[in-house]
Amino acid sequence: MDAHLKAADDWYPHQFVPWSQGRDFEGVYRGEPWTEGEQALSPAVRAGLLHNLLSEENLPSYHRVIAEAFSRDGAWGTWVNRWTVEEGRHGMALRDYLLVTRAVDPVALEDARSRHVQHGYDLDYRGDALASLVYVTLQELATRVSYRTMRTMCGEPGCEALLKHIAQDENRHMIFYRTVLQAAWEIDPMRLTDALARVLGTFRAPGHAAPGFAKMAVSMVLSGIYTPTMHHEEVVLPILRFLKVFEVDRLGPGGEQARERLAAAVGTSAARAERFERTGSAQRQSVRSPAGA
Ligand SMILES: [Fe+2]
Ligand SMILES: [Fe+2]
Repeated sequence: MDAHLKAADDWYPHQFVPWSQGRDFEGVYRGEPWTEGEQALSPAVRAGLLHNLLSEENLPSYHRVIAEAFSRDGAWGTWVNRWTVEEGRHGMALRDYLLVTRAVDPVALEDARSRHVQHGYDLDYRGDALASLVYVTLQELATRVSYRTMRTMCGEPGCEALLKHIAQDENRHMIFYRTVLQAAWEIDPMRLTDALARVLGTFRAPGHAAPGFAKMAVSMVLSGIYTPTMHHEEVVLPILRFLKVFEVDRLGPGGEQARERLAAAVGTSAARAERFERTGSAQRQSVRSPAGA
């Protein structure tokens, strides 16, 4: 926790929004309603940012489940609140940016947010602190990867600066959880290996219940914002390498079976990436060209 606070970088969402581009909408100011076709960002980046914004905006539920999974005692209590401050910035900044630039339909966005937040969110590993810890580590890294890719694709310096800051926050969150994960590994490698196998085999995005998720997720895959290959090579493998899961020989009774289950889950992830590279590349090209223009 001390290391996280020392590395903290406080930034101000309002400094990353081009307010001078803003125009009144319909409603009390009788401005112009949003219309299709005035968006500056490519459809691919828009779909990715919308997906990430809807995910970020379910923060009240995440705050609750993180507190339930890890408790509010001592350093965990400090973490839960500090992490909430940082995640809150992401949603605020993205929302302001997308509304001021008229990149998304504000009515559709509010309807989607309303449905998503009312649906709520529960960790798939409720009651299992170790599996929850594995999940949030992978999830923070996955989120970082998607923001980093969108930064390279968005084509607008202000948006790039914003996504850079968000990606750095997500990276610090990952490092916090990964450090705890390493401590867990030193205490009980067998149980952690088992948790890794279970979570790798069942991992899904936190925003999986957001309205339009399937369409946005497909768009993110085809545009290269977040692909099965990236998931395997930039999320799954780095965490396993960091823990040296396959390098130590002290897993004890039951440990080898857990390691075999983990190897099988890693194999499935690799096969998914390989299949995507084989079959998805043609489709990907056709989606990328208009977006990247
Ligand atoms: Fe975030
Ligand atoms: Fe995060």
